[in-house]
Amino acid sequence: MVLKEIDPALLASLDLPAPRYTSYPTAPAWYNIEEEVYLKALQQFDESSAPLSLYVHIPFCKTMCLFCGCSVILNRREDVQDQYVDSLLEEARLIIFRNKHPLRQLHLGGGTPTQLTEDQLKRLYRGLIDIFPLDTTAEISIEVDPRNGTNKLEMLKNLGFNRISFGVQDTDPSVQKAIHRYQSYEMTRDTMLKARALNFDSINMDLIYGLPLQTVESFKDTINKIIEMSPDRIALFSYAKIPWIKAHQKAIPEESLPPTPIKFALYAHARKVLIEAGYLPIGMDHFAKKEDELTLAFQEKRLQRNFQGYSLKNTENMLGLGVTSIGYISGVYIQNAKDLDSYNSLIKKRRLPVQKGFVLGSEDFLRRSLIQKLMCDFEIDKEIFKKEWGKDFDALFQIDSELVINNEKVFKATPIGALFIRNIAMYFDAYINKGHFSKAI
Ligand SMILES: C[S@@+](CC[C@H](N)C(=O)[O-])C[C@H]1O[C@@H](n2cnc3c(N)ncnc32)[C@H](O)[C@@H]1O
Ligand code: SF4
Repeated sequence: MVLKEIDPALLASLDLPAPRYTSYPTAPAWYNIEEEVYLKALQQFDESSAPLSLYVHIPFCKTMCLFCGCSVILNRREDVQDQYVDSLLEEARLIIFRNKHPLRQLHLGGGTPTQLTEDQLKRLYRGLIDIFPLDTTAEISIEVDPRNGTNKLEMLKNLGFNRISFGVQDTDPSVQKAIHRYQSYEMTRDTMLKARALNFDSINMDLIYGLPLQTVESFKDTINKIIEMSPDRIALFSYAKIPWIKAHQKAIPEESLPPTPIKFALYAHARKVLIEAGYLPIGMDHFAKKEDELTLAFQEKRLQRNFQGYSLKNTENMLGLGVTSIGYISGVYIQNAKDLDSYNSLIKKRRLPVQKGFVLGSEDFLRRSLIQKLMCDFEIDKEIFKKEWGKDFDALFQIDSELVINNEKVFKATPIGALFIRNIAMYFDAYINKGHFSKAI
């Protein structure tokens, strides 16, 4: 099988810092922008009939998992969360549309959305859909932490959530100890059983390979346990080590981490076992059952990549609410203030809490489209490219790489290249020297 054929020297040469391309241009290229830029983009969007999605960031967690690369605020105070819900609803009210844009997607992510109390979740959800009515077929999803979310599942289902995703990472107790995340197998299984009994449309589980103390054997056991629980989708993330941004990751001793060849073997084995169990690899790091909508979208080249990973194409315009939240509206990336006090105080002044962003120019759109296509479909059809952009692919890009097949018709990742799609996408990134990224493997 392909994965075993990878030359260790090639592996070492590919383990370079590489963006995950949840946006293009990637965040390090963004700059400070004014509220007016966002208001103008919102107005332009309002005049269009493009579909709308909404992402709401809930940053709170009770304890810090040592590997975590998310935007997290440690908090145990309900009053802080109450005030945050007020701010979120106020921020939503500051976005005024004259036309109706029913939401295709509403996603609550974190941090840990299920750290909000039941009352806070109800107040937030009802308040949001009052301001942004939902499309009748909307995907309404939430990230659930089994350590505090299981007993909230019924309430979430009754409110209208139809998809859930939960963090597992690894079921091995010694790995859990090394990452400061204690989540027994029974706890994860109970969350799964309850979610199934409640008939959510889709259940996803997150796993990470490359964590401290993981071995090929131990991770096989984790994967087998997950397969037994039979989630509809599995996100199998590579541990993104970014200690220059997330200082708590420094508490993981370097020598406890699997070296690159082992990290790759963890992925290779997991991938093999998941495929044998009937899951299809989707994009860079997702697996889904054959009949899953994501699988169909992948096969029909209808996937797109955004900050939440992979989703369907028609959800490009996304409002982001909350501290550090990222959105994309009418060709403009927007990121909110990164610290809670600044965020709350801007909202109190009735200002949109925008901090950074990027207004895309014509070359950015072209490169963004190419990178999206590679990250989702693993290939670029040169004739379609010419029709879309009026330009000749080969005249613009001369790329010679053993990771791709590059002929007059197509630019396409080889089967091995598909495993290193971030490395291939980097050829098209005009801002690649701006950032400091986690490694590709
Ligand atoms: C916001 S968390 C999920 C919800 C909830 N907080 C939990 O942990 O169950 C999103 C996911 O990001 C992934 N993640 C976080 N930090 C990561 C890192 N440094 N590298 C790779 N994946 C990471 C984890 O798989 C995690 O489940
Ligand atoms: S992985 Fe989830 S629970 Fe752990 S610190 Fe990150 S956001 Fe919080």
